[in-house]
Amino acid sequence: RPVVTEFKVKDMNLAAYGRKELKIAEKEMPGLMALREEYKGKFPLKGARVAGSLHMTIQTGVLIETLVELGADVRWCSCNIFSTQDHAAAAVVVGPHGTVDKPTGVPVFAWKGETLEEYWWCTEQMLTWSNGEMPNMILDDGGDATMYVLNGAKYEQDGKVPAPEANASGEWKVVLKSLTKSLENHKDKWTKVAKEIKGVSEETTTGVHRLYQMVERGELPFPAMNVNDSVTKSKFDNLYGCRHSLTDGIMRATDVMLSGKVAVVCGYGDVGKGSAQSLRGQGARVIITEVDPICALQAAMEGFQVARLEDVVATADLFITTTGNKDIIRLEHLEQMKDMAIVGNIGHFDNEIQMAELETKDGMIRENIKDQVDRWQFPDGHSILMLAEGRLLNLGCATGHPSFVMSCSFTNQVMAQIELFQNASLYENKVYTLPKHLDERVARLHLDQLGVRLTEMTKEQADYLGVPVEGPYKPDHYRY
Ligand code: NAI
Repeated sequence: RPVVTEFKVKDMNLAAYGRKELKIAEKEMPGLMALREEYKGKFPLKGARVAGSLHMTIQTGVLIETLVELGADVRWCSCNIFSTQDHAAAAVVVGPHGTVDKPTGVPVFAWKGETLEEYWWCTEQMLTWSNGEMPNMILDDGGDATMYVLNGAKYEQDGKVPAPEANASGEWKVVLKSLTKSLENHKDKWTKVAKEIKGVSEETTTGVHRLYQMVERGELPFPAMNVNDSVTKSKFDNLYGCRHSLTDGIMRATDVMLSGKVAVVCGYGDVGKGSAQSLRGQGARVIITEVDPICALQAAMEGFQVARLEDVVATADLFITTTGNKDIIRLEHLEQMKDMAIVGNIGHFDNEIQMAELETKDGMIRENIKDQVDRWQFPDGHSILMLAEGRLLNLGCATGHPSFVMSCSFTNQVMAQIELFQNASLYENKVYTLPKHLDERVARLHLDQLGVRLTEMTKEQADYLGVPVEGPYKPDHYRY
């Protein structure tokens, strides 16, 4: 492989440590390793130039190296300013066969603690192939890479500034500055890139939501694979992943005893369900807030109190947002919390908590305790502890989901990339989920590791239910 000359990571000397952890992760990611085995020597992604924007962690490292083994030419950045694991980033640049002096891995532009300006610079670098080639696939988490390309193209074509709400992260001015700068030398750069893209595979609820909105407005110029709504993604990563990594993040950040504390979880979707279990597992008394009567009823029947934030804001010890919606914890809520209440978000964007309002409120004192932990003191003297500046705390304050569950998510990602790269012309410019037989296959690939022995149906039983012996076993409308 050629030597990688373009990249920006924190410290290349962390690569050896990163490689050791990548090796451990490979053992825990049987789905990805099975794909490597299955496609050995076949290179189904040969010719694919994959532009990836997804938390640059160890687990993502195994994903990236799987894409490379399958023949893809890959560039990467993180989809969050705090989520990069610097040893993972360095190891991926060095690659499995390179050295720090002669890295032969993948160009990565990511480090933990980027500024917003640096974040969009990294996104732009990730999308810009040095030899004049362009990406033809996007692998996105939250939709920022897709948004950057499409808004860039729009900006070039009609000269108008796309609406600020096109960027859910509320950082529009910074994006625009980056886009304008990127156009100094190439006036139609993003229009060309947008034309080149065969498709995007999207990792998370929030990114998928943005894609469906684009389709509704008739603005999606290529097909998209909704990886999030594979059952083996959202019902595992969002649920069991958050069950692992939420309290991991809170404890690494604060070391606070969770047993006996009152914790409010806003939202009881997949992430909320995992978060509530995570806190309950530590002995916290968990209260849920919801807008959806079905989810509220689920929470109540799971034994959780369901309340309005207003009614519990002054008495709870800990607040976690999990909604993918904005303005969930507002300034007026933060003002009423008890002294040293802990506040954090595990949804995709930081606008679930009114951070901008907190930062600009008169008379606030911000004391940084350590990276990604701040004490904010209000003029009346009481304080709150804010985790990861309101950005997803499981990746900001800890290391995100563990390998095994990310193997489920990323096996779906690789399958989606192969399908879109090889068959994009068979799809309309809409959002698709992977077929159920592939979803079941992802699950199957993870059974052996856990010692699961699956029961096999007889032909008579299969006929009785009207399903094939080898699956798929459920209709598409089945909800698990
Ligand atoms: P979901 O749609 O299953 O759940 C969100 C829930 O929030 C829904 O039940 C909705 O009714 C509720 N909600 C919306 N507005 C509300 C309000 N004002 N008050 C109370 N509840 C409200 O979505 P999912 O899959 O749980 O994802 C949630 C967020 O987490 C998304 O932004 C997603 O991208 C992100 N995510 C983060 C992960 C992480 O590792 N940090 C992993 C997976 C997803």
